[in-house]
Amino acid sequence: MKPPRRDTSGISGFLRDCFRIIPQVQSLRILDAPCGYGRHTLWLAARGHQVVAVDRDPDCTQEVRSRAENSDCGGRVQCVVADIDKTMPFDIEFDAVLMVHYFSLASLRIVSSAVRPGGHFLFESVPNHGGNWKQLPQGGLVVHELTQRFEILEKDERSVGPADSNAVFIRLLARRYQT
Ligand SMILES: C[S@@+](CC[C@H](N)C(=O)[O-])C[C@H]1O[C@@H](n2cnc3c(N)ncnc32)[C@H](O)[C@@H]1O
Repeated sequence: MKPPRRDTSGISGFLRDCFRIIPQVQSLRILDAPCGYGRHTLWLAARGHQVVAVDRDPDCTQEVRSRAENSDCGGRVQCVVADIDKTMPFDIEFDAVLMVHYFSLASLRIVSSAVRPGGHFLFESVPNHGGNWKQLPQGGLVVHELTQRFEILEKDERSVGPADSNAVFIRLLARRYQT
């Protein structure tokens, strides 16, 4: 699904709230995967953070790059084209990792692995619209995948779709255990 184009004002309210909880004594190194057209990347870079923005669609990364360069935060944004269902094309750990409005089990595993010990992982599935519940996680699945490595700090999980689908809308903030 393509993200809304040029949507810089529609920052996830959950993300905004999470960045009040995440300690920000200094500039954070953040991964935004997938980044879409960069609404969160640009919002975070404008607040002084260093952001790596990953998407498989080169139109998206190109747009994020040029929007960053046209603002005063170009030096804080690095754009990478990659398929997050398959790999992370670098070996860096991040203070905070966002995975917003995209879900696959493979990408959840790969993207959450990029959080440094003590760092934060923020996940938000797409809201339920019509028949898209088929692409949403099953209830309990996201927490089950994270629970060995992360402490769940905030969680909002709600059933969507037909009663027997077990699909959920979920958003959560988790902190990776130190060991
Ligand atoms: C609905 S957008 C959300 C983008 C952004 N996180 C946001 O909240 O604005 C979903 C994005 O996922 C990207 N995408 C889909 N499958 C992907 C994959 N396997 N690897 C990397 N990016 C992918 C699409 O190109 C699209 O930009």
